[in-house]
Amino acid sequence: MKKPIILLISLLICAIISSAQTKETKLKIDASDLRIKIDKNIYGHFSEHLGRCIYEGYWVGENSSIPNVKGIRKDVVDALRKIKVPVLRWPGGCFADEYHWKDGIGPRSQRPSMINTNWGGVTEDNSFGTHEFMELCSQLGCEAYISGNVGSGTVQELSQWVEYVNSDNVSPMTDLRKKNGREKSWGVKFWALGNENWGCGGNMKPEYYADQVRRYGTYTRNYGKNKIFKIACGPSDNDYNWTEVMMKNAEGYMAGLSLHHYAFNDKKIATDFNEKGWFDVVKNSLIIDEYITKHSEIMDKYDPKKKVALIVDEWGTWYGVEPGTNPGFLYQQNTMRDAVTAACNLNIFNNHCDRVRMANLAQTVNVLQAVVLTDKEKMVLTPTYHVFDMFKVHQNALWVHISIESPDYILGSQKLPAVNSSASIDEQGRLHISLCNVDPKSPQKIVCELNKYSADKISGQVLTAKEMNALNTFDKPDAVVPQKFSDFKFSGNNITVNMPPMSVLVLEIDGKVELKPLPEIKNPNPGVKYDYYEGRWQKLPAFNQITPKRSGTIEQFIIPKEHTEEDFALQYTGYIKIQKEGVYTFYISSDDGSDISIDKNVIADNDGCHAVEEQYGTVLLKPGFHEISVTFFQAGGGKALDVSIEGPGMPKQIIPKGMLFYK
Ligand code: AHR
Repeated sequence: MKKPIILLISLLICAIISSAQTKETKLKIDASDLRIKIDKNIYGHFSEHLGRCIYEGYWVGENSSIPNVKGIRKDVVDALRKIKVPVLRWPGGCFADEYHWKDGIGPRSQRPSMINTNWGGVTEDNSFGTHEFMELCSQLGCEAYISGNVGSGTVQELSQWVEYVNSDNVSPMTDLRKKNGREKSWGVKFWALGNENWGCGGNMKPEYYADQVRRYGTYTRNYGKNKIFKIACGPSDNDYNWTEVMMKNAEGYMAGLSLHHYAFNDKKIATDFNEKGWFDVVKNSLIIDEYITKHSEIMDKYDPKKKVALIVDEWGTWYGVEPGTNPGFLYQQNTMRDAVTAACNLNIFNNHCDRVRMANLAQTVNVLQAVVLTDKEKMVLTPTYHVFDMFKVHQNALWVHISIESPDYILGSQKLPAVNSSASIDEQGRLHISLCNVDPKSPQKIVCELNKYSADKISGQVLTAKEMNALNTFDKPDAVVPQKFSDFKFSGNNITVNMPPMSVLVLEIDGKVELKPLPEIKNPNPGVKYDYYEGRWQKLPAFNQITPKRSGTIEQFIIPKEHTEEDFALQYTGYIKIQKEGVYTFYISSDDGSDISIDKNVIADNDGCHAVEEQYGTVLLKPGFHEISVTFFQAGGGKALDVSIEGPGMPKQIIPKGMLFYK
């Protein structure tokens, strides 16, 4: 009997030793194709009238002893400004489909109350309404994202809310807004047509809801120059049928489709877990990669050009509430486990940035996976906050393709990839690589190879802890905070990094993208060439198969004076002269279809028969002459073409005459 026991013990010892051994991850970073931008709105937030998020979290009122600006607490705003919150979703959540916006305007003392039936059955006195929310967004310096009431509200109610917020015409709603102290419209772009309408937002079937999107969407009007970005309620988790029906029946009525996913962990509180609890929550977080991939595949069938965005407007961890708190308030603590899941999610969103163009963490303050917790006048920043702070470098940067071979993190009979990562290049040409080691026991050696990028200098920040449930409290607010990281070596194009167990790391690499050499253009002429065609098309024609009626040169991308009213197409070709290396965004706005290419790559595709619509694309350009081509067709009705540029030191503007040349 002795021998098998000895064998078993030595096997166990080997297992323990090997589980704590450093494992090796291979990472290949390829900067040769930089055309997709990581939309800054992926770093968005969600704040609902739920528990102590709005009240106490943000709103304390003008007479509070807690320092505030116009009733909104200053410490919270300062903390959120630091992580550059780009967009804030409000007023819900489930609350949105029971919210009647007119109850939240006018003198506060006269606003009617309601019962917040979704969240704790408490009385909502409506002291925080549209004006207060818009003031909050202005203090945060972020965009507003308003969820309309489709579940229990009327089409007229939503339509009037949009008019109240966005119109500068003479109208009853505009007058009402002015009477309430706001002269100019706010011009809110992001509006949702309901929330979770398969559940708390009306328990609708997808076919019925798709019809509601068409109906409510019709009366959600554009005012002035502001073009509304309508977001329809999408699926939860892996409800692929919901996505299929929405894309089939309502694709043309929405700019975005939402997705919700929470990583639940039975009823246990946030700090009470063992390694199985760690593993399960990380696994439940990582699964969103599969959900996004499969929903995107369905969307691709109906929308191969990826015009409809996937908006992950609720995500995060969801545990049992902290002892002694109202179960309807969803107040939970936040540990190193939450930091790791936040990093996993953000890496996944970055790597799906061709389809995912906004995400909103649930919820900013005092609810679920909050970044900020408050207790009366005290405030603490959670480990999740620090992940958002470290990852903010990816906002609006160019996504860089990576391939990763990660060892497994094994627990019992289950396994997960131990390391996940994403990378981007910012306007200054710096490469940022974010890495997450989800294994709470094993360090990781990362062997990273850079392609088309030469590194000069590396620095880094790491967030890690000794215990899986390490957290920041009001008494010990700095237990889990980012530290300077220097455990790396680099030579030539290779970087080797040693990551501690359960850690989040962001590397900043100063260097240069190795861009292709540009042609030498001697004595170019100002302007661009154009070819003018006549014919009837429903989409951009194959220009190499048709013969122009006329050709000429023109100073800018404008429709030449002589043309028929309808049924014509234009192809412009030339060079754009770039003075300064950096990331440039090209916008093409047209009625009907158009596209723009730089150096023979289509940057923004705005094809199809439509009213004025704008598309944009981003590209890293070095100084010199780059080939530029714009195509356009007109198929009846209105006609318009505007081509704009935005880049280092250049605010968005129509491409000026001085930048365009031809040979
Ligand atoms: O974030 C809390 C709730 O979760 C939201 O109100 C709802 O949309 C979701 O079910």
